Amino acid sequence: MTRPETKILVDGGDPQETRQVKELLGFVDGQTTNPSLIAKNPHIRELVASGHKLSSRDEMDEYKKIVQTISPLVGDAGVSIEVFSDEKTTPQEMFSQGQEMFSWIPNAYIKYPCTAEGLRAAEMSVKQGVRVNITLCFSQQQAAAVYAATKDTKEPAYVSPFVGRLDDIGQSGMDVVKNIKRMFSKGDGHVLVLAASIRSLEHLLYCFVLQTELATVPAQVLEQWASKNFPMPDKQFKYKSPGKPIPYEDLDLERPWETFDIQHELTRKGIEKFAADYRATLSRPA
Ligand code: E4P
Repeated sequence: MTRPETKILVDGGDPQETRQVKELLGFVDGQTTNPSLIAKNPHIRELVASGHKLSSRDEMDEYKKIVQTISPLVGDAGVSIEVFSDEKTTPQEMFSQGQEMFSWIPNAYIKYPCTAEGLRAAEMSVKQGVRVNITLCFSQQQAAAVYAATKDTKEPAYVSPFVGRLDDIGQSGMDVVKNIKRMFSKGDGHVLVLAASIRSLEHLLYCFVLQTELATVPAQVLEQWASKNFPMPDKQFKYKSPGKPIPYEDLDLERPWETFDIQHELTRKGIEKFAADYRATLSRPA
């Protein structure tokens, strides 16, 4: 296979799956996890099904074990670990979780949601050398805010635009990735684009065309890629968008992050769903 320039991360919460993908591809550059994927981890499901629901400390310990098993399996794109947050979580609370999670493994990236609270936590994190991945990003304005909020980072920060969830609401998710790449080409390169919510081989191949630095991909899509003998997009490759085009906006990356419009309905809904999936594994509401 021709190894793509885009780093390939496994989007999942099960170390066994990561091992299988590594065997199939011969490499795995990194991994992303989130509360929904951790709730689906086979061991956690077994515990919950046997009536052994977890305390929030147990859940943290289980999450830690999972990422500690995955950590040595992956390359330099690291393992993204997501803080638990809901609409009431303060930046300081997110940052405290982030600091603890960052100490679990040597190659951690801490995922904070693309909200004002999440960006404040990210600002604190990068000042302390905690690597970040800003998740639940659905717009170019949100990505511009991530750029401005992480200016102090010494290592690249990640921003994760969610492609599939935009497609789900009839918009062209890949357009957001394309627009962010174009906007960042005028920047200093401290934020890398990690295409997320990838649902199909077409999404993945178009990421290669757009030269996203990273893409996180479910095992099922990587298996499809392997079953077709790892095709790469050729000159004829044309991405057929399933949704309404999203126009490019001319944004000044030097503006303070608070001046960008970072509200997005899908960010709010995404936080709610992650919090619900997390709570479903607990013995008492968190
Ligand atoms: C990864 O960082 C994201 O959490 C993941 O790609 C979301 O994917 P989904 O929209 O298919 O849940």
